[in-house]
Amino acid sequence: MHIVITGAAGFLGQRLVARLLARGELKGQPLHRLTLVDQVEPELPFSDAVEVEGLALDIAEPGALDEVLDARPQVIYHLAAVVSSAAEEDLDLGMEVNFDATRALLDGCRERGLATTRLVMASSVAAYGGDLPAVLDDMTALQPQNSYGTQKAMCELLINDYSRRGLVDGCVLRLPTIIVRPGRPNAAASSFASSLLREPLNGEEAVCPVAAELALFVMSPGKVIEALVHGAEVPGEALAPFRAFMLPGITVSVAEMLETLRRVGGEQALALVRHERDPRIEAIVAGWPARFDSRRARALGFGGDRDLDEIVQAFLRERA
Ligand SMILES: NC(=O)c1ccc[n+]([C@@H]2O[C@H](COP(=O)([O-])OP(=O)(O)OC[C@H]3O[C@@H](n4cnc5c(N)ncnc54)[C@H](O)[C@@H]3O)[C@@H](O)[C@H]2O)c1
Repeated sequence: MHIVITGAAGFLGQRLVARLLARGELKGQPLHRLTLVDQVEPELPFSDAVEVEGLALDIAEPGALDEVLDARPQVIYHLAAVVSSAAEEDLDLGMEVNFDATRALLDGCRERGLATTRLVMASSVAAYGGDLPAVLDDMTALQPQNSYGTQKAMCELLINDYSRRGLVDGCVLRLPTIIVRPGRPNAAASSFASSLLREPLNGEEAVCPVAAELALFVMSPGKVIEALVHGAEVPGEALAPFRAFMLPGITVSVAEMLETLRRVGGEQALALVRHERDPRIEAIVAGWPARFDSRRARALGFGGDRDLDEIVQAFLRERA
């Protein structure tokens, strides 16, 4: 089994690499080659059973993935992307990396007859937007309200059509907001969702920029990685007629997050949260879907977190 991962140096890419190497097989076939692609030189983990190679390249350059595809990998994880705020700031960059490079990747598969190569791509809740119903499902129309979401939605349609035509075997997973992300806060509007738990549990201050009633649709990094693994294994026939769907996140309110923080870290952890509403962040996150009927993903065998406690315990176990 030869697997290619684009965006392999990123947050999810690195975790996926570690998970695949620990597993040693995919679709019942032993893993023998792992090709890690990123514009940042990917770190190469040691493995005596798997040939791991790293390629530092810009997937938006014409022909960038030619050699990678010439090797006829069985599975491609397409995770490289310009994330939301950067894609909103620079329309050309977002289009080139998030859309044009995905189209080039699909055409590369088509030209080489990689009809059975499973292409797993990560889409996002940002593909939804506009006037949303209280509870969304996979039939809710995609009306993205930013360029990143629009680029993801366009890729979903294209991967579905290339799969329908039998040119590749696609599977697109829409990821909920991922908490608790380890590391430091970043510029993403969703960054506070991880900070609210992570910083106080590390004995540091966090700012809560939103109302306690705000609800979010979330998933732990561990469950997202499990879903990516399953995304390579779920049979293509089961994915028709549309190859993109929402993963089974859970709905949690900020109030529940704070209560979980108090339960796990005590009053001293809760006291580290400073409440300072930020209208800019509130305006962005208010438009995010929080309730989702994800029975399609569950029927396809994708699992999720049981509750917020399980997510926090997983974070603490990993931090230890
Ligand atoms: N983490 C989340 O909360 C989340 C939520 C929804 C969707 N996603 C999607 O999941 C995927 C992975 O997300 P992540 O959190 O690991 O992001 P990340 O930013 O940590 O990783 C993305 C990687 O893509 C690489 N990349 C960007 N442009 C490139 C280019 N032109 N050529 C080659 N490599 C390039 C970056 O160097 C980076 O290592 C992305 O497609 C993202 O849109 C993530």
